[in-house]
Amino acid sequence: MSIATSLDRSSNGGRLSVSDAVRIARAAATNQLARFAPAAYVRLTGQTGRGDAAEESSGDISQYFRQSAEAYFEKLAIPQASHASFLAGKTLMEYGPGDLPGVAALMIARGAEKLYCVDRFPLVNLSEKNARVLGHLIDGSQGAERDRLVGCLKDKNDPQAGFDPRRIEYLVRPGGLSGLINAVDLVFSRAVLEHVNDLDATFKDMSTAMRPGATAVHLVDLRSHGLHKSNPLDFLEWSSRLWSLMYSQKGVPNRWRIDRYRSLVAELPVKLLVLEATKLASIEDVAAVRPRLADPFRGVSDEDLCWLGFWLVFRKEAG
Ligand SMILES: C[S@@+](CC[C@H](N)C(=O)[O-])C[C@H]1O[C@@H](n2cnc3c(N)ncnc32)[C@H](O)[C@@H]1O
Repeated sequence: MSIATSLDRSSNGGRLSVSDAVRIARAAATNQLARFAPAAYVRLTGQTGRGDAAEESSGDISQYFRQSAEAYFEKLAIPQASHASFLAGKTLMEYGPGDLPGVAALMIARGAEKLYCVDRFPLVNLSEKNARVLGHLIDGSQGAERDRLVGCLKDKNDPQAGFDPRRIEYLVRPGGLSGLINAVDLVFSRAVLEHVNDLDATFKDMSTAMRPGATAVHLVDLRSHGLHKSNPLDFLEWSSRLWSLMYSQKGVPNRWRIDRYRSLVAELPVKLLVLEATKLASIEDVAAVRPRLADPFRGVSDEDLCWLGFWLVFRKEAG
C-alpha cells in the first residue's frame, strides 16, 4: 500500500499537515527496519522497555523491579508474610519483561519454582549496567531469598552469564505468544498488553497457558507513550491503516481501549476479580477528540474513552 493511498484514508477524511506527512514517511521507513531486522532496530533505538535507559541508575532500576513485584502482591491481596507460601512450587509467566527479567528474579527469590519470560522482541541485555542491577537485587536480599536469587544465575560469580533456564527461561516468540498449555499458576505483566500486536491472540495464549485455578494480574498503560500532539487522546485520530503503516512492527501502543479488554476477558473461561482505572482523561479532552476519532474508537463510550490505564486481575475457572 502506498503512503498516498493511506493518506486518503486518514481518520477524519481531512487533509494532513506537512509535519504529519513527514512523520508518516519517517515512521513508515523505520517500521520496515523493525520488521526485517528487529534485533538491529532494538539495538539502534536502545530500547529497555522502560523508556530512556540513560537517565536511570542501576539503583533506580532495582527499586523499580522491587516496587513492581510489591504492586502485584498488593493487587492480589497477598500480605508479605504469605509471599513465600503463595509462590512455593509455582510456575509463573511474565509477558514482556523488558531488557532484564528483574521481577522474575525477585519472584524466584521469594519462592517461585520456575519463570517463563515471554517476549516478541529480543530485548534482554546482560550489560554491565544490568549486571549491577542484579547486584543491587542480590545485595538487598537476605538469607534464603538471597540464596534463591543467586541460585537462578548460570554462574553465581558472574551475573552477565545470564540465568539458569531451569529457573528463568526466556522465550522470544513471533507475536510474543508462549505456546504453553496448562503450564502456569500465575501470569503477570506491567506496561505490556498495550503493546501487543494481537491482543486477542495474547489473551487466548494466556488462558491456554494457565492451569485451572491460575491467576493473571496485569497493569496496563493506555496513554499515548509520547505519540500524541496536544490532547492526550489525539493519537486515536490516526486511521488504523496509517497507524499500522507507521508502527505495526515496533511494539508501540496498539491503542485498544478498555472496552476491548473487557470483552476479551468476558470470552475466556475466567472469573474477573479486579478491573480498576489507574488514570482517567478529562471529559473535556474526550469531548475535544470525539469528532475526529478513527473508526475503531467511534463506538467507544465517553466513560470508556476516559480510561488511561488500569489494573486487571482474573482467575481461570477450575475444572
Ligand atoms: C514498555 S515494555 C515493559 C517492560 C517491563 N514489563 C517493565 O515494566 O519495565 C514492553 C515490553 O513488552 C514487550 N512486548 C511487545 N509486544 C509484545 C508481545 N506481543 N508479546 C509479549 N511481549 C511483548 C516488549 O518487547 C517489552 O519487553
